[in-house]
Amino acid sequence: MGEIYAAKTNHITNPVGYALKPLVFSWKVKGCKGQEQRHARIVISKEPTFTTLCFDTGEAALDSRAARVEFDPQPYTRYYWKVLVATDAAETIESDVQFFETAKMEEPWTAQWITCDSSQQRHPIFSKRISPTRAVARARLYICGLGLYEAYFLGETSKVSSKIGDEYLTPYCNNYAQWIQYQTYDVTEQVSEGGMLSILLGNGWYKGRFGFSDPERKEYYGSEWKLIAEIHIAYQDGTNEVVGTDETWSVKRSNLWFSNIYDGERRDDTLPPTPECCARIAQAPKGRLMERLSIPVKAQMLRKPVALIHTPRGEEVFDLGQEITGIFQLRVREPAGTTIRIQTGEVLQDGCFYNENLRTALSEYIYVSDGKEKTIVPHFTYYGYRYVKVSGVSNLLCEDFTAIVLHSDYESIGNVKTGNALVNQLISNVEWGMRGNFLDVPTDCPQRDERMGWTGDTQVFSATASYLADSFAFYRKYLYDLYQEQLLAGGMVPEVVPTFGPSKCSCAWGDAACIIPWNIYLFSGDKTILENQIESMKAWVDYIRKIDGDHHGWRQVFHYGDWLALDRAGAVANSVYGATDEAYIADIYYAASAQIVAKAAAVLGLEETRQNYQAIADRQWQVVKEEYFTATGRCAVKTQTGLVLALKYHLSDNERLTEQMLRKLLRDNKNKLNTGFVGTPLLCNVLTEHGMTDLAYRLLLNEEYPGWLHEVKLGATTVWERWNSLDENGRISSSGMNSLNHYSYGAVLEWIFRHVAGIDVTEQGPGGKMMRISPKVDYKLGSASAVYDSASGCYRCGWQIANGDQITVTVTVPFGAKAQVILPYAPDSVYHDTENPLFETVENGICCVKAGQYTVTYKAASPLKKSYSVDSTLEDLLAEPAIRAFLSNMMEVDMIPDLAYGLTLRQAAEAFAGGVSAEQAQRLNVLLEEF
Ligand code: BGC
Repeated sequence: MGEIYAAKTNHITNPVGYALKPLVFSWKVKGCKGQEQRHARIVISKEPTFTTLCFDTGEAALDSRAARVEFDPQPYTRYYWKVLVATDAAETIESDVQFFETAKMEEPWTAQWITCDSSQQRHPIFSKRISPTRAVARARLYICGLGLYEAYFLGETSKVSSKIGDEYLTPYCNNYAQWIQYQTYDVTEQVSEGGMLSILLGNGWYKGRFGFSDPERKEYYGSEWKLIAEIHIAYQDGTNEVVGTDETWSVKRSNLWFSNIYDGERRDDTLPPTPECCARIAQAPKGRLMERLSIPVKAQMLRKPVALIHTPRGEEVFDLGQEITGIFQLRVREPAGTTIRIQTGEVLQDGCFYNENLRTALSEYIYVSDGKEKTIVPHFTYYGYRYVKVSGVSNLLCEDFTAIVLHSDYESIGNVKTGNALVNQLISNVEWGMRGNFLDVPTDCPQRDERMGWTGDTQVFSATASYLADSFAFYRKYLYDLYQEQLLAGGMVPEVVPTFGPSKCSCAWGDAACIIPWNIYLFSGDKTILENQIESMKAWVDYIRKIDGDHHGWRQVFHYGDWLALDRAGAVANSVYGATDEAYIADIYYAASAQIVAKAAAVLGLEETRQNYQAIADRQWQVVKEEYFTATGRCAVKTQTGLVLALKYHLSDNERLTEQMLRKLLRDNKNKLNTGFVGTPLLCNVLTEHGMTDLAYRLLLNEEYPGWLHEVKLGATTVWERWNSLDENGRISSSGMNSLNHYSYGAVLEWIFRHVAGIDVTEQGPGGKMMRISPKVDYKLGSASAVYDSASGCYRCGWQIANGDQITVTVTVPFGAKAQVILPYAPDSVYHDTENPLFETVENGICCVKAGQYTVTYKAASPLKKSYSVDSTLEDLLAEPAIRAFLSNMMEVDMIPDLAYGLTLRQAAEAFAGGVSAEQAQRLNVLLEEF
């Protein structure tokens, strides 16, 4: 029997209190006999029984990836909906009942913002007794507290108050001068019982120390604690009551007397209780108070330490065995007056606790005990850490400590496993990088005094993120933030979003405005993201155009370029700028962004916009060609990143030559990368798309510095910011800008999904409607298998090698989708097996299939395992580090002229060393066979 799953409203499961315009439903189907949808029908009702309908699409050709419904919901209302899908096998499948609930929408607030004396350090607790007068049918809390808030309720008959909802760090991080989000909680149970509602406030991003340009700066958006809340009670007799914040609320002080995002929190339980006083009416904050867009940040996992380390310096340090982002809890039972200090770090140095690379972020928690046994947990901060130093606890035990992993509540939808343990660890590191940096805002890193929404970092990671998770709602909020910043900056996209202070911009960073919405559209198949963002996208290109003027001004202003690339000649250690001409990168991204706007406009049917931006793109592509390419197509920017960009955007009139140039550059660099933020995420994809998957695999599987597996071998559990964040001895290379949890280079996982596992999301069928399945088999990797639960349903693709040259490929295509399967190393004969449903429709070696599971086993058309002999080319021989080392005993391997690389070892010996005898050749062959 078929089943409908992942039914979502605006890409969120049963959203309550979100901004939901326009309304978009999506769902997936599995386990049915049919292969595709005949029609579908969505019904909406105020009752879960659907007795009366508010809306009915009727049987229609609804798009399961994004079915837009022209229904105008009312405020304060829960709507139930379900979808019924009829298949081509005459099945009708009905989803479970789903709901969405509106909040205040355009309704004015009757509550007022309240505040208290904000010059005191002790964080306030605002409270109000809630005493229902009749039987309660339903109650909701609409609330926003600044900087951060947590709401609690102490029921009349309970002893301890409990937290309302399961979210952390509400009301989340925005440019609060532009907009502020309120949350909605179902408090029917609490209000029915009656009791004390209390709200604890912290400083957070709003009023605590935070920011990139001036991290010491506090109170960026305001210096006053502020709270607004309305409790809407619907009684069973049909009457309503609203209790809102006003002067009748009271304030007392908590034992928290310090908190901010970077430094942590301080709590003193020996502080005397404070008298209660009345709240004061506050000025409303500057930004618009709106229904939320942020998906919740929740505790996603708990982890116990793997060890308690006693360091040479005499410290006690927990090791989690994994770098995570979140908070922790510690059970304490120390005498009154004892100070407990908890500090976090990413790495040990000389076996001791280390946190200098967090720069000014103290990342600590300080607690003064009142002598009672209790569990302490931070409220208004978070940490990026693996190691935890604890002092002040007399009998420290692993069992008393629990790490709480926090991140935005995205749904995981993809994973890959390969036959190589190091690659699998790399994949895990990338997944942890996403967990660690998807905390309401996509951040660069979670630990030092930064933790900000760097546009460039998430631009390069957005496709990977969309393979790993349903990223739509998360990025929807970020892109809204991004546009809010543009509105203040004449279309400029700041380098970090939300900005916190004066900001500049850069190519490849600001281009996030175009690249991310396009990626989200490709992966979701929902064009509302383009509709939401088209003004932002255009504004960014218009901004560049203004700076560019008539004299190429864009290439003359500051750009980060290929940030952290290793190829700048004469660069000092830990330099940040790469060798690729920044002007070239800027000019290309300008054209690429204009091109994306044109494509987005085409999707949205905005013909005039399409023409305008296509014209900009065409002109700019021409500018790039004229400036950086010779008339015969030779690229003047001879760096790995420079050539990768030339190939990605097909800029050279001689692509063969450009490919050869890239191949040679890589060979000159011993088949190692030296790319930075711009080149690295594109590198392997471009190599594969230009028939150089062999090189991409070499880069992936290289275990030496610099490379992805190098850091895995050095014990990384997340992806590092720099290729040399730690050296071979585990020493941190610098402390100025060096994070061990930066996901940017983790973007290689996109290539692993797309090409290693072969699940290649295409523009022809966004959201996986039409998938290209083209796995790239590699003997050394051994196997790969991926699951990707796309917007159109769950794809699987796996390959294995047996007996040296036998390949088995398995593919699953979901209901309602189609795939083009391209088999690796397939001999022609394989397509003649008409019994196998995979080969029902084959066009030019492409198997066109509908929903189903397919398997095929065949003998590879050419050998998979590379074997070496005197008749192998020097190119092949020297690419293998072990052979290179072996041959270096016989020849100057670093002094071989370019021309000779195409020669076999035998030919090279003949040309330069008087040839090899039959006997020598035989001996060499025996030795070479070993590799
Ligand atoms: C951040 C980045 C960011 C870069 C700008 C760094 O401080 O951590 O990842 O993209 O600055 O180039």
